Amino acid sequence: MRRTVIAGNWKMNMTPSQTKKFIEELIPMVKDVNKCDIVLCVPFVDIAVACEAAKGSNIKIGAENVHFKESGAYTGEISAAMLKEIGTEYVIVGHSERRQYFGETDETVNLRTKAALAAGLKVILCLGEVKEERLSGITNEVVAMQTKLDLKDISAEELKNVIIAYEPVWAIGTGLTATPEQADETCGVIRNVICELYGKDAAENITIQYGGSMNENNAKELLEKENVDGGLIGGASLKTDKFTVIAQAANR
Ligand code: 13P
Repeated sequence: MRRTVIAGNWKMNMTPSQTKKFIEELIPMVKDVNKCDIVLCVPFVDIAVACEAAKGSNIKIGAENVHFKESGAYTGEISAAMLKEIGTEYVIVGHSERRQYFGETDETVNLRTKAALAAGLKVILCLGEVKEERLSGITNEVVAMQTKLDLKDISAEELKNVIIAYEPVWAIGTGLTATPEQADETCGVIRNVICELYGKDAAENITIQYGGSMNENNAKELLEKENVDGGLIGGASLKTDKFTVIAQAANR
């Protein structure tokens, strides 16, 4: 049966010393959460400190991006092997902020996903429609196409290390949340595409998260939905008390 995964995406927040303090505070708060996985995806420079602080706890550490080349003249980029060696377990790929501000396309998202999987990282693959697409009624087509392009040439075996995060772009950082019904429906569309591509078992087993203004007040009803297997949380993952409430809501 698929795992529920609650992941924080810190984005460009928190220094290494703040990271250490945050994780030390969070550990006792979530120590009884055992029915879902807890992941914190943190800025590159915080990863080593985060891995050290989280050692022996039920908190796993991830990065927020990864480059698709193994090494070379790519100033400012970080490879999957670099992440792996310092203890990173997960990596976010294809976040809408990367697509929007840094020119990521489904093609580069696919390459990054493949590079991360080849290095033994687990991938949190983000996709979702923009507001105009939702308003024009083409959400299902958009997320189906993204799912297919982003997973191109990824095997069923590799897919076991992929989580999909459905993040409607209009709900990210806006305080607007998809209704539980919208989240359930669109995560269900993604699951159907996985079924088409990889078969029923893969579709049943893949974790599909919802992300976009999920917080301590709305998490429970979103997480109760059949097709919503967790959350990717931005703002509310920066406060230990809010993040704990969300993790506890998923711990059932
Ligand atoms: P917010 O929870 O701040 O809306 O961010 C969601 C997100 O982008 C997670 O990746």
